[in-house]
This record gives sequence, C-alpha cells and structure tokens, in this order.
Amino acid sequence: MVANTMEELVSLCKRRGFIFQSNDIYGGVKGLYDYGPMGVELKNNLKQAWWKSMIYERDDVEGLDASILSSPKVLKQSGHEDTFTDPLVDCRSCKSRWKGDQINNSECPNCKSKDLTDSRPFNLMFKTAIGPVDDGSSFAYLRPETCQQIFTNFKNILDSTSRTIPFGIAQIGKAFRNEITPRNFIFRVREFEQMELEFFVEPGTDNEWHKYWIKKRLDWWIDQGISKENLKQLNVKKEELSHYSKATIDLMYNFPHGEEELEGIANRTDFDLGSHTKNQKDFNITSKVILNESSTTKLGVQKLGENKHYIPYVIEPSAGVDRGVLALLNEAYTEEKIDNDNKRILLALKPHLSPIKAAIIPLKKNNDKIVNLSKEIKSNLQKVGLGRVMLENSGNIGKNYRRHDEVGTPICVTVDFETLDDKTVTVRDRDTMEQKRIGIDELVDYYKNYFN
Ligand code: GAP
Repeated sequence: MVANTMEELVSLCKRRGFIFQSNDIYGGVKGLYDYGPMGVELKNNLKQAWWKSMIYERDDVEGLDASILSSPKVLKQSGHEDTFTDPLVDCRSCKSRWKGDQINNSECPNCKSKDLTDSRPFNLMFKTAIGPVDDGSSFAYLRPETCQQIFTNFKNILDSTSRTIPFGIAQIGKAFRNEITPRNFIFRVREFEQMELEFFVEPGTDNEWHKYWIKKRLDWWIDQGISKENLKQLNVKKEELSHYSKATIDLMYNFPHGEEELEGIANRTDFDLGSHTKNQKDFNITSKVILNESSTTKLGVQKLGENKHYIPYVIEPSAGVDRGVLALLNEAYTEEKIDNDNKRILLALKPHLSPIKAAIIPLKKNNDKIVNLSKEIKSNLQKVGLGRVMLENSGNIGKNYRRHDEVGTPICVTVDFETLDDKTVTVRDRDTMEQKRIGIDELVDYYKNYFN
C-alpha cells in the first residue's frame, strides 16, 4: 500500500519542475496550478496513453477537439444553468466561505463562530463576455465539462464518418469550475482537464455496455501503474446520482488525503441527445429533459432495418487528467534505502509515462569531443520518437543520477573518455541502479527494446 503524504508530493513537484502554484510571483491564485517541464511531459504522456487506448487501438471511437467557450443555450438544455450548483455558506464573523458539506454543528470551521448565513446555491460556471461590447447581452460560459460539445457535434460526426450505433466520441480538454473551496493540491481545482468518452448505444444494450466500460477503465488505470489495492469501485447511491444518470460507478483512488473519485463511469441514458435534439416529441425520450425550442438538428438515429428513429443512450467514462497525474505521482513516489547511510527518492513511473525517456550525460562538460558525441547520441535516440530524450550537461554524475531517479527517467547513458576509445557507453537502469557498458551501435536497439 502506498502511503505518501501530500507534502512529499508537492515538494517533489516544485523541486523537480512538475507542478507550480499558478501566478506564484504575485502571491498565487487558489485552485490554479501550472505544469512545469516535467509535469507537462507526464501529463501529455498520460493523455496520449488514453487517446491511444480509446481511438488508435479501437475501431469504434472518433476524436474531437471542440471549443471551450460554450453557448448558454447548450448549458441551459444540459441542466447546468439551473442545477450545476454547490451549497454556499458565509461566515459573517471571519468572512470565510464554505461549501455546505464542510459545516458541522452549524459552526464556522475556521473561527468556530455560529454567525453563518443560510446555505444558498452557488453556480460553479465561469462566465465571460463575447464580442467587444461587455453589456451582458452576449456572453459565453467556460465549459464545466468537455462532453457537452460532444453531444452538440453528434450529428456532424455521424454524418462525416458514416458511423453507426454503437460508437463513441472521445475528447480531452480543459474544463472550468468555480469551486468554492479548491483543495488538496491538484485534486480539486478551478481549471482542470478531463478525458471523456461518450459512447452511444441502443437502449436496452446500455447496462451491458456500462459493465464493459467499467472493466475497461479499471484495467486501463492498472496498466498505467495504479495498484489494484488503491482502486475501488463505488456504486453511487440513487439519491446521489447526477440529474442525467441512471447508474454511476465511481473509480475511487486512495489519494494521500483519502479515498476519492478519480473517474466516474455513468449511464447517462437518452438525457443528453434527448436534451439537445430538435423536435423532442418525435422521439420516445425516457429521461426528464427541458423543452428544447432552439436546437436546429434532430439527434435521433434510425433503428437498423426499421423505419423508426430513436435517441441513443450514452455511456460515459469521464476521467480527470490532473487527478490521474496526482494518483500516478503517488503510486510512483518511493523512498529507498541504498545502504546504511544513504537513501534515494525514486519516481517509479511506467516508462511510457516518464517525462524523460533517457538522459545522456557527458562526464566532462568542457570536453568538446565528449559533449559532441553525447549530442549525437541524444539526437539518434530522440529520432526513435518515444518522447523526450535529454542532454544532461550540468552538475556531477551523482547529482544527475539522483535528479533523474526523482523525475523517473528509466535510462541514463553516460559518455566518458573510454567512449572515445572503444565506442561504448555506460547505461544505468533507474530501478535496479545496475550499470553496464554497451556499444554505441547497440544503443538504439537497447533503447527500443526497453520500451517494448
Ligand atoms: N461529464 C461528467 C463529469 O464531468 P464529474 O464527475 O463532474 O463528471 C469527471 O467529473 C471527472 O473530472 C472527475 O472524476 C474528476 O476526475 C474530474 N474533476 C471534476 N471536478 C474536478 C475539479 N474541480 N478538479 C479536478 N478534477 C476534477
């Protein structure tokens, strides 16, 4: 069982350039974080692994990259304008603000005063003006989830790809929520990324597809390096289901601050396409949708071999990228005793997720021959195309190994004087710390095999 503290992860993230507080030099803004040189690689690798598993390795899912600014009409129909709220309570004494579920015994968690306002709904969506005149007549929301534009593009994608049900549309991108109390590092933030698949199925087949996607998604997280014992399935209680859901399974991860949701897999029924379709009455929509008088497009599909049209059901695995990054950092963070006096911190990420795939270290920084050969080796490994290969020409060799252990670089390649004579390099393995000499001419194959 992994038992790291959040402080250990936050400290590593800052020290090694994974994640920084956003707007830091001006005091920071709560609930916003920036991904540094190592963080952006890790995050991109995670997103790429998801994209590969959803699109390239399947034959029934298409990709999408839709706009973030969303028409209020979309978010009215989806129910967000009316119901995407959290209960907000103010403390009149210390002026702090709380989410309703943080209040116990009618007492302010900060100053213990009982002088609190009644709880009132607070809509979590960010609004912004569209166009040059900010007179409130034309505004947009920053999308609170990525999926709504998948639904509004359903017909475009259906028509342009000739897909038939069942099939899915996948999207990775930013979402924004004005969380009342962002907390726990990148776990609950105001700007984050989601990886969402909307998988469209025929009503009646939805329960089977729901089960299918729960298993797929569990297996995928385990493939990324999440240990089974840290991942649980939570069957969301009927009274806690979102307004669109018939059934939701949350994948709960054992984060440093406790067990919380990493991904939700919902059976959204015909709520979404039923909400956004024109001529709702033409379809036998089973869920409770808001009357739609502004959509221009029918979102039903024809039942195979029949002259009937129906609104497809949707199964939605929706994962948070930032929560994924936090879970992976937690899994990978390891403190290891090397001998009686020394320990090392190691980020034992799966190699496909490692920010740096290999570090090439010239032993003498001021020796042109060694540095130029190192650059050539770097360039040859970089061309293999597995991700970032780094020329590490600062610090001493011990410091370099320590740094690359901490950012999870699987292989370090050291170029020294011997290399100039016999064309061999030292290859050091992150996990075993074993070092061996191999020929430069064997290096590309060694590198490729390592990652296969
Ligand atoms: N389209 C469905 C949907 O958005 P959700 O449970 O609200 O469902 C899905 O969000 C995932 O997005 C969550 O499981 C979580 O990983 C991530 N997420 C939601 N709110 C977040 C926040 N404030 N900060 C970071 N990640 C968040």
